[in-house]
Amino acid sequence: MTKTHRLMILPGDGIGPEVMAEVKKLAEWLGRHADIGFETDEDHLGGASIEAYGVPLADAVLERCRRADAIIMGAVGGPQWDHVDYNIRPEAGLLKLRKELDLFANLRPALVFDALVDASSLKPEIVRGLDILIVRELTGGVYFGEPRGIETLPDGQKRGYNTQSYTTSEIRRIGRVAFDLARKRGNHVCSCEKANVMESGKLWREEITRLHDENYSDVTLNHMYADNCAMQLLRNPRQFDVIVTDNLFGDILSDEAAMLTGSLGMLPSASLGADGVPGLYEPVHGSAPDIAGQGKANPLATILSFAMALRYSLDRGDLANMIEKAVQDVLSSGMRTPDIMAAGCTEISTDAMGDALIAGLEKTMAEAA
Ligand code: IPM
Ligand code: MG
Repeated sequence: MTKTHRLMILPGDGIGPEVMAEVKKLAEWLGRHADIGFETDEDHLGGASIEAYGVPLADAVLERCRRADAIIMGAVGGPQWDHVDYNIRPEAGLLKLRKELDLFANLRPALVFDALVDASSLKPEIVRGLDILIVRELTGGVYFGEPRGIETLPDGQKRGYNTQSYTTSEIRRIGRVAFDLARKRGNHVCSCEKANVMESGKLWREEITRLHDENYSDVTLNHMYADNCAMQLLRNPRQFDVIVTDNLFGDILSDEAAMLTGSLGMLPSASLGADGVPGLYEPVHGSAPDIAGQGKANPLATILSFAMALRYSLDRGDLANMIEKAVQDVLSSGMRTPDIMAAGCTEISTDAMGDALIAGLEKTMAEAA
């Protein structure tokens, strides 16, 4: 019997709605041609939600997210909301969604597709075959630590402050995710912090080491200071398999790793919580307001995020593999959105990229039949 999955779709701002249109097209196509069904719900997040409801994430929308099997998001933010308060900025909607669902594990793969090896700003021999998975802690650390604020000092100056904090259980649960995933990949975890200057980093290193010794001694573990990791990612990125790190370092290192691949427009992500909680899937790229509405956006990162949803939340790794292969094929055939355009290739629109991907899937299915 065909199983029906509930998808909550949050297109968000900027290029979000355009790239999400291609995911909707793909989900409909799968519903018609594969043994899977989708029941989709859709609403606003971020700036679009501020305009519609006055808040970046409405409570009623959050409740519908909780009832979904997986949540797919486009992107949030834009210059028109740059000057509003932190708690009602578009980004606050995304942070609230992560926090409310306790989506503590953010998986950000950085994969160099063979066809795009020249798009990287590093030499092809350094990045060819690169396959890193960054596991970023997503609901703790300085993003959420208290106290935080801006206060006025007696002498009239102001002081801005945030708190970095991690508990044993927060460190251990993200550590487990990293070690478990490493076992299915290269069996190597590099844990990053600043244990040389921060107590929270010292504890992070101790807890990861203890967890490793207790339950994961079959996995190779090394520790690195986060600044060294930033440097090593440029010097010799292929030394890494899984990198586990905190919220802030993970934010920075994942952007760096993404850029190694040459296109932010290609990279998906998954944010996972406890069993039974819907995962949140989103492209790593932002809302790119400068190109919004022009059909220039690359929908592949969002499509690959949908593939991650199939794998991690819907238990359909087979369909995820099929979509990932179709992405490789479409790239090998030379079809490119402007962000990954290269000499000798054909430049196509967002919509045409979605169609080309589906045409590839149609061909794969016909061959298999
Ligand atoms: C990310 C983004 C977010 C973050 C912003 C939009 C709040 O940069 O997902 O990496 O800092 O986590
Ligand atoms: Mg970021």
